[in-house]
Amino acid sequence: MNILVVGGAGYIGSHCTRQITVAKHRPVVLDNLIYGHRKAVAPEVPFYQGDLADQALVRHILRTEKIDLVMHFAAYTLVGESVAAPIKYYKNNVVRTLALLETMLEEGVRKFIFSSTAAVYGMPDKIPVTEDVRKAPISPYGQTKLDCENLLAALATAHGLSFAVFRYFNACGAAEDGTIGEDHFPETHLIPNAIRAVLGLDPALNVFGADYPTPDGTCLRDYVHVDDLSRAHIAAFDKLDKPGTQLHFNIGLGHPYSVQEIIKAVETVSGKKVPVTFGPRRAGDPPELCADATRVRAALGWKPHFNSIESIIESAWRWHSINPKGFN
Ligand code: UFG
Repeated sequence: MNILVVGGAGYIGSHCTRQITVAKHRPVVLDNLIYGHRKAVAPEVPFYQGDLADQALVRHILRTEKIDLVMHFAAYTLVGESVAAPIKYYKNNVVRTLALLETMLEEGVRKFIFSSTAAVYGMPDKIPVTEDVRKAPISPYGQTKLDCENLLAALATAHGLSFAVFRYFNACGAAEDGTIGEDHFPETHLIPNAIRAVLGLDPALNVFGADYPTPDGTCLRDYVHVDDLSRAHIAAFDKLDKPGTQLHFNIGLGHPYSVQEIIKAVETVSGKKVPVTFGPRRAGDPPELCADATRVRAALGWKPHFNSIESIIESAWRWHSINPKGFN
């Protein structure tokens, strides 16, 4: 299949693009390179630099590349920034997504895979979180993702759009060969920040709160390798043949690790101490998030290859130690 990967030069998009090639489909990337990195996409993959809401450009790509299915990763994802700058988030994550979907439908492309988030649940009523848990986002970021999910449902009913939504818990890790990985600026995620502290790129890892109602006082999260996540997306391709199909999947390993456990795992993998400081809680961090991934395993036959936190962190460690300055 010919797959348009919107945001294919970003962290998750670039790993997914590579896995699409491995799975013998043909990826085509559209990315505005505001956060993405041209070097994250192999030179042989057709690459278009531009905006997902540029309807003339998207129309041109859908036609000339004979696109069968669109995957959309091009979102802003910082919870804190979304609270401070909601217009930026609604414009990019909702308004531009609407333009992309409108172009697709006008061109008769009706298969779509959407990158969503555990943030749609807010502080979930039940852990592990199943897909039917009440959606109550506590940030504009989470709300914009839920708004898109609702839009997709309306388009499925009205226009026969078939879609799969993946609600990520904590995507992490890097390509096994260490050639692509996480390169955000600013970096806000735990694993890269712990590794940056070990490498001396930051003075220390600041732990946001050690007074949570959890066994060691730090937050619990469900970490899943970005290539495993990507393989789940690809496994959904052939479930979208029937017009109007609506699929929703939580995706994580279903095993929570605390911030302290992640620090220990980074120390085991790197053989070095993580310099740590303890600060106040970060606004909007739920004490615990963990996926119930029964549905994605059953419906898509998804089996993660990276089942231990150490194996995930090993891949991230390889990437960051080979490329301490990321892609630059
Ligand atoms: N943390 C620190 N120090 C850091 C970075 C993170 O202590 O420097 C802590 C956080 O407070 C949290 C845990 O490590 O307890 C994980 O934080 P991340 O920023 O790595 O990931 P989040 O769980 O906050 O975020 C992820 C996705 C978001 C998504 C969210 C859903 O990255 O896009 O889950 O709640 F919105």
